[in-house]
Amino acid sequence: MSLTPNRIEVGNRTMSVQPLFTEARIKARVAELAAEISQAHGSQENLVILVVLHGALLFAADLVRGLTMPTEIETVRLRSYHGTESTGAVELVGALPSLQGKHVLVVEDIVDTGKSISFLKERLATAGLRSLKVATLLDKPEAHGPETAPDYTGFSIGRNFVIGYGLDLDGRYRNLPYVAELVAL
Ligand code: IMP
Ligand code: MG
Repeated sequence: MSLTPNRIEVGNRTMSVQPLFTEARIKARVAELAAEISQAHGSQENLVILVVLHGALLFAADLVRGLTMPTEIETVRLRSYHGTESTGAVELVGALPSLQGKHVLVVEDIVDTGKSISFLKERLATAGLRSLKVATLLDKPEAHGPETAPDYTGFSIGRNFVIGYGLDLDGRYRNLPYVAELVAL
């Protein structure tokens, strides 16, 4: 785990970078989730994996390899975050793919305030889906209400900002193979 410095400057604060989930632990948990989703889907009907870019790229790439039903992969891009603070305003960048009549699994990197996922669910509510489920690698349950609770969660965590395995700090650190949290010093 030597890809990151031990400390990162965020604005005018110095944060300590502390490993949270190792590559091996993530791998094992993602395999479990894929098995759980495959079993719950329970049929050979197509499942559209709707990857929320960019954060869920790595998680989705590993997750789909463990799914046993036929899949299609689509992407959607949302924008809401600046630095370690959510702006609250969510926007769709580009268009939604056509999902009429499809079973859809939204794949997110993290559910924090829940604003992004509720925005996306609202947009999908009128798109004529056959079913909709949400899988997230990480969940911050203390940061949102039960109405935005995901159907499948890799790990529940506290409120600290996290980076790695797809999650970024202003566009950086997505390539870390593990997840680390930033702790104020
Ligand atoms: P929400 O709308 O507040 O639930 O936040 C959703 C999006 O904000 C996530 O999909 C991430 O892209 C980003 N985000 C939230 N918390 C973190 C974090 O701790 N690290 C990195 N990105 C985060
Ligand atoms: Mg995201």
